[in-house]
Amino acid sequence: MELDRVSTRAWVLHPDIKSDPDRREAQPALDEAVGLAVALPDLEVIGSEVVPLPKAHAGLLFGSGKIEELRLRFSENEIELVLIDGPVTPVQQRNLERKWKVKILDRTGLILEIFSDRARTREGVLQVEMAALSYQRTRLVRAWTHLERQRGGLGFVGGPGETQIEADRRAIDTQIVRLKRQLDKVVKTRSLHRAARAKVPYPIVALVGYTNAGKSTLFNHLTGASVMAKDMLFATLDPTMRRVVLSNGLEVILSDTVGFISDLPTELVAAFRATLEEVLGADLIVHVRDIAHPGSEEQARDVLSILSTLGVSSERPLLEVWNKIDQFDGDERDALRARAARDEKIFAVSALTGEGISDLLDEIADQLQNARTETVLHLNFEDGRRRAWLFEQDVVQEESQTENGFEIRVLWSDVQKARYDAL
Ligand code: GTP
Repeated sequence: MELDRVSTRAWVLHPDIKSDPDRREAQPALDEAVGLAVALPDLEVIGSEVVPLPKAHAGLLFGSGKIEELRLRFSENEIELVLIDGPVTPVQQRNLERKWKVKILDRTGLILEIFSDRARTREGVLQVEMAALSYQRTRLVRAWTHLERQRGGLGFVGGPGETQIEADRRAIDTQIVRLKRQLDKVVKTRSLHRAARAKVPYPIVALVGYTNAGKSTLFNHLTGASVMAKDMLFATLDPTMRRVVLSNGLEVILSDTVGFISDLPTELVAAFRATLEEVLGADLIVHVRDIAHPGSEEQARDVLSILSTLGVSSERPLLEVWNKIDQFDGDERDALRARAARDEKIFAVSALTGEGISDLLDEIADQLQNARTETVLHLNFEDGRRRAWLFEQDVVQEESQTENGFEIRVLWSDVQKARYDAL
């Protein structure tokens, strides 16, 4: 056994709760959780397993027989940290930590740790800090001091006694207020930049997709830039923007965004709204899928549902990219290509080898053929619905009130203009 062990020995559990109506397929879910754990530095995943459960037990999550069985396994393997892929209440957490003599991190805690490790821009850092604090506030029960020691940052600090907990909670509240003020400032500066950019009539194309789908790789292929592409979940946390000249000479802004994940902690959905602003304002969304992943369909559904939670309407022009087709051979690959070819909005590609990319580029160019134009509209006061639609589409540049309504200057695409005319 090594004497100087630097990494934390971890075990990953995926509770497969039969009574849960939204239950995900267990094995891919466990694989994903292990992938998440591996994305954290300083963790060594020693083992992982699915734990089938008829239903969650209130105080301890698992049944007593299972708890004892796992206790032995953890102690044999000198496990220090157990990752439970699912929500764990603060009470369950405290009880299990006592029984197993390990630290526990649930899915939300884990994703927060990864996000905090990856955030690069000022805004990203602030948002993760905010999300972590609101999460922490609800569970001042324990510490996973390891990460805290390593980074002197986000570790989930726990207070020893109840009074200490109250004091910690107050300290957290104060900190949240402070962070919020800073964040407001950053967001304001950012939206100024965004407004400035909106005046430049470059259409925005946003790449979205499940984490590890290959967005950064595709982005690099399309732009010739080198954004970090790694077989690591959430390698991209802050959106990256580049100006690209498409095959037809049209200039666009291409943005790579944070990878989506199912059961995204609610704290983070809110916190990352601003980060995903580029998607909200995009003229075209390119949904990148890892078509070789066994859970590809499920991932695609999750991505679409997160997009709709973010307020992106299903009307927004969207292309679907089936990435990683190089992972199939012969017949299977031909079959996939044929299936994709049947739908003009689907492109089978390999971001790695470049196969299929030029067709995709041509289609992006076609979709955006018409750069946005500026128009001044006059609306009556009664025309609230159309006015609301304009704001919803984020095309309003300037608005002033006139005697009988509004004068609105918009910058929009022909697609948007046509839709407006049809309202
Ligand atoms: P997040 O940052 O987590 O959202 O990931 P991402 O969607 O940006 O994925 P990224 O581009 O980092 O790629 C993830 C992994 O998939 C890397 O190991 C890539 O090399 C690999 N990959 C991307 N595209 C392809 C492809 O077309 N074929 C194969 N075989 N691997 C690919």
